[in-house]
Amino acid sequence: MARRLTSGGRLVLATHNKGKLAEFAALLAPFGIQTVSSGELGLAEPEEPAPDFVGNARIKALAATTASGAPALADDSGFCVAALGGAPGVHSARWAGPTKDFDLAMARVQAELGAGDDSRAWFVSALCLAWPDGHTETFVGRAEGSLVWPPRGTGGFGYDPMFVPAGGLETYGEMNAEAKHATSHRARALQALLAACVG
Ligand code: IMP
Repeated sequence: MARRLTSGGRLVLATHNKGKLAEFAALLAPFGIQTVSSGELGLAEPEEPAPDFVGNARIKALAATTASGAPALADDSGFCVAALGGAPGVHSARWAGPTKDFDLAMARVQAELGAGDDSRAWFVSALCLAWPDGHTETFVGRAEGSLVWPPRGTGGFGYDPMFVPAGGLETYGEMNAEAKHATSHRARALQALLAACVG
């Protein structure tokens, strides 16, 4: 049985990524969970040395709950391309370089693809909820789809403009936030977390 969040309690969102913060705040708002970001609390951003999404989410959530004394939620996510053996994967943020230039990151994906015809790609979101006593609960969500080039749309963030979810025509960059959340990796992981730990 998963440990549950007490309603009305405070939850630290352990991310400094503005795109993810906005998405989490929107997805959690209907549940009356009071959120504060690790950035607002002045917490440092830990390194992400693990080779997988779940490992990095645990590191980030445990660092934030230890530093704040409140339950903390961390997400480690990324974009995976079948023809690149799952890259950029856990290195998705790093491919954008120090200036966080995702036009550059998307161009690198396209350049490394070459002439192959396998356009399968997916996003992964691993969520970890951690408590100050070291207890953790983890959940993983995936959104399958395909690559497009050139990128399309100005919505969302990161690799959104080059990803069309399975069964759709628009990229995540062209869809509004509500449509993206209907199928996104982060929304799916969060649904699993909410079912197990909230309410
Ligand atoms: P991290 O989890 O903060 O290490 O970074 C994950 C990176 O994956 C982000 O900076 C984005 O580049 C990418 N990413 C994760 N989720 C999404 C998404 O929903 N849309 C676009 N890019 C994403």
